[in-house]
Amino acid sequence: MESINNFWNKLEQDIEPPKYLRQVKILSYKKFNKIISERKSKSIKKIAKDLYSGDVYIIRNTVSSTFLENLKEKLLEWSWKEKSKFHKMIENCPNFWRNIDKNNSKKYSIRAIRKAYYFFRWNKSSIKVWEKFNKPWGCVKFLGGLKFNSFINNTPKDGVIDRIQVVNYPENKGYIAPHQHNPKHQRVLISLYMSEIKKNFNKGGTYFYKKKKKINIEKKIKCGDLGLFYATMIHGVDKVQAIKGKRKNDGRWWIGLYSPESNLTKKKRTTSNSVYLN
Ligand SMILES: [Fe+2]
Repeated sequence: MESINNFWNKLEQDIEPPKYLRQVKILSYKKFNKIISERKSKSIKKIAKDLYSGDVYIIRNTVSSTFLENLKEKLLEWSWKEKSKFHKMIENCPNFWRNIDKNNSKKYSIRAIRKAYYFFRWNKSSIKVWEKFNKPWGCVKFLGGLKFNSFINNTPKDGVIDRIQVVNYPENKGYIAPHQHNPKHQRVLISLYMSEIKKNFNKGGTYFYKKKKKINIEKKIKCGDLGLFYATMIHGVDKVQAIKGKRKNDGRWWIGLYSPESNLTKKKRTTSNSVYLN
């Protein structure tokens, strides 16, 4: 049987990588998990081809919203107790949270206003994040042509590492400019959504493009869903606006399951420079 990795390699040789949204497809986590666990090659290749054609897959009900609500509380507590910090991804780097604001946003390749909480596999933490995400993450790694357990024992000296990033886009401020990612180590990007439009925020949130037209996909997203798309798709987050009349709450929350190159890799490859459409 042809490996999934070879299937991707062929697609990537023959066709230009996708930038624009074709359509949003919805699949239950139960079904997705079955497809991957039972190695249903035809269905896996169909999803891979769809993703490479510009589809965004929303995998419904991947993580319970109770767990995510709880996680949010713990993270808020962490940021009240401890100051914002930054650490390079080198051996033994700790988990940390950083307030990315107008001043330090310039240090990143993409402009953004957000609070980010980072977790690495080698750290013990009272905030349990890995158990809940290991299985869906493994499934997506497999779909992306990797092994179910690729990178899980890696530390920065090995190059590519697993990193969980929980992000809070504060009300009326939080956003990230449009950008693309390099598909070299992770073809399929993973978003775990923790907030819903009209429930947690009124306007803004995640969008793609159909040529020059911006397409906001928040209406299709529920808390606990997983979003999958090919790394080169142009995407961003529009300023998250508060619901009028509702007492101030904590904006939009999102989790990225990502395997970046550590800072011990020669010529670290980051997210590409912002792509601005004219
Ligand atoms: Fe991104």
